[in-house]
Amino acid sequence: MIGGIQLGVLAACLVLFVPMLMAGWHLSRNKMLFFSGALFITLAVCVHLTPYFPSVSEFASSFSSFVVFDHRNSCINLVNQIAWDVKPRTDLIDKSDNSSFEYYEKNWEWVNTGKVNACEFQKLGKSDASDLLNGSWVVVAGDSQARLVVLSLLSFVLEKERMDSVRDDLFRRHSDYNIVVHEIGLKLDFIWAPYEKNLTDLVIKFKVKRKYPDVLVMGSGLWHMLHCTNATDYVVSLRVLKSSVVSLLPFSPELGTNGPPHLFWIGMPMLINGMLNTEEKREKMSDEMWHAYDRALGDSKLLRQTGGPLVLLDIQSLTWNCGPRCTIDGMHYDGVVYEAAVHIMLNALLIESHQVL
Ligand SMILES: *[C@@H]1O[C@H](CO)[C@@H](O)[C@H](O)[C@H]1NC(C)=O
Ligand SMILES: *[C@@H]1O[C@H](CO)[C@@H](O)[C@H](O)[C@H]1NC(C)=O
Ligand SMILES: *[C@@H]1O[C@H](CO)[C@@H](O)[C@H](O)[C@H]1NC(C)=O
Ligand SMILES: *[C@@H]1O[C@H](CO)[C@@H](O)[C@H](O)[C@H]1NC(C)=O
Repeated sequence: MIGGIQLGVLAACLVLFVPMLMAGWHLSRNKMLFFSGALFITLAVCVHLTPYFPSVSEFASSFSSFVVFDHRNSCINLVNQIAWDVKPRTDLIDKSDNSSFEYYEKNWEWVNTGKVNACEFQKLGKSDASDLLNGSWVVVAGDSQARLVVLSLLSFVLEKERMDSVRDDLFRRHSDYNIVVHEIGLKLDFIWAPYEKNLTDLVIKFKVKRKYPDVLVMGSGLWHMLHCTNATDYVVSLRVLKSSVVSLLPFSPELGTNGPPHLFWIGMPMLINGMLNTEEKREKMSDEMWHAYDRALGDSKLLRQTGGPLVLLDIQSLTWNCGPRCTIDGMHYDGVVYEAAVHIMLNALLIESHQVL
């Protein structure tokens, strides 16, 4: 008996080689049309016959779900591929102060390659973002980088006038922040969680209460680097976090009405050592230490790309590519960087929830 795999390989050869052979024969356009028609009918007949051969239909369905899965997966892997265009602004009156961060105009786009274009990423407008987040509960937990992501996320859905008061409340040092945007039924909580231990505690709290947000965005590392300065310990605490997140999954339906939460990790920004604002930071947060922490994140297998549960918002590559002109203290970057990160997150959410706007 011929197995499903062999048949699949045969079909793949057919689809691959028949048009190649035809191209080799320099067929006329009419003959080409005839052949592709015949090929189509043959494949259609096969598709209709497959239900009568269980192993074939099983293979066919796993193959098609593999293709869909693969497309989603590869687009999630590409969603962080962004290129920056940073140049001096043309509308400035005083052109002398080129050290100011306002001096530069910063624009970004997804990189222009075939693979990335095929994913059709898009910058979402206010109404698209509102549609996507309508009725959701979003929790963002972490350090000041996470706070900046919250600020950008809110500026997607709130009027400009309302953003001023949000900014004041949000930036009270070391505190949580909650807001409900009634117009779209969005509930957003920022949880101040500078250490990985704090994130783990949060995840355990969700588990105990059996109440989960629809979207959970986490990120930390800078506090650990400054106050513990021990990458080995960082990887240990990330692994603990990972296993607490994994224990939420697979998600049993009784726990939530909307399926498992969408999980994101806010990567660490590039640190520009010479620009850091205290002596202690310049000393402890060296480039070497930064790289050790970056490796620790990889080793912890927390991220989807290493087989873990969280999708990376690649702040590292965003900040590296935007460069020193996008930061004043070598650690916190211009709003446009976090805005790009939110675009990345919304696009990943679109892919994951198969929504088409
Ligand atoms: C800023 O201006 C100074 C002198 O006007 C120049 O030497 C320097 O290269 C400029 N820096 C950048 C980043 O353009
Ligand atoms: C949000 O969803 C509700 C029902 O699902 C709908 O009535 C409402 O118009 C939506 N609002 C926006 C701003 O999309
Ligand atoms: C975060 O964790 C640290 C270390 O375990 C603890 O000292 C601190 O109180 C926690 N902070 C918050 C906001 O929970
Ligand atoms: C770093 O952390 C690890 C794991 O927690 C610990 O075993 C080690 O002693 C620490 N190293 C230093 C230099 O503190």
